[in-house]
Amino acid sequence: MTLTREQMLVEMGISPIWVLREPEQAPSEAPAPAAEEAMPAAVAEPAGVAAAAGIPDGPHPEPVPAAADGSSAAAALPAIAEASWPELERRVADCRACPLGAQRRQAVFGVGDPNPDWLFIGEGPGAEEDARGEPFVGQAGKLLDAMLAALDIARGDKVYIANAVKCRPPNNRTPEAAEMAACRPYLERQVALLRPKIIVLLGKAAVHSVLHDDKALAALRGKRFEFAGIPVVVTYHPAYLLRNLPDKAKAWEDLLFARRVLREQAAPELPF
Ligand code: URA
Repeated sequence: MTLTREQMLVEMGISPIWVLREPEQAPSEAPAPAAEEAMPAAVAEPAGVAAAAGIPDGPHPEPVPAAADGSSAAAALPAIAEASWPELERRVADCRACPLGAQRRQAVFGVGDPNPDWLFIGEGPGAEEDARGEPFVGQAGKLLDAMLAALDIARGDKVYIANAVKCRPPNNRTPEAAEMAACRPYLERQVALLRPKIIVLLGKAAVHSVLHDDKALAALRGKRFEFAGIPVVVTYHPAYLLRNLPDKAKAWEDLLFARRVLREQAAPELPF
């Protein structure tokens, strides 16, 4: 069934559209306590492939942990930093750099347009994604598709979707900081190869992985961050929105903000 844009907005619980505003700054109210706000304490991050990929590294570079098979994951970093897209896919499929690799059915690399305007980064695969090998194919994915449709974009068309970790954490728990750190080199290389015009981080895990920031999402929304010279904005994870329906309107504000940032990129201000 093809939904109209208005139906999509109804589906997202944010119609009618004319009541929406586009504030430049995030509202200052504290977020309702929810799983979205719960993050494991930051642990040592690995020195990623960022430098080699031309990407500024995060603020806590530390040695890479040993891989689950005992080999040094650090040894693989230069190769990941220079990997072609097919080589990167192969490395992710074979990865055992953290314990998640032993428990997954398959790694979930990502899906979409290889030349995207938008890159959405979620947390990690759930059961359905683990089974099908594609990110965001469950309930949260349906909502993400509705969010994309409300922006007049579709999965696969100028959009790429990836996750902070490529392997399913057991029982759909939040990935641990060390797991995200082990997976970050792959994400960095994806960003370096995709060169999207904007990155949208979906939820706290993605924010932790990319920005190394563990503040509450409410404090990060409506702001423009940067990663590898690419603008980054932050919004709620679709799974959180399914449990906190009133926050869908905030997510819509965030997406409108992201679209403005994207358009500013595409058409920089005239110098006169
Ligand atoms: N949640 C995520 O963060 N990613 C997925 O791929 C699915 C659900």
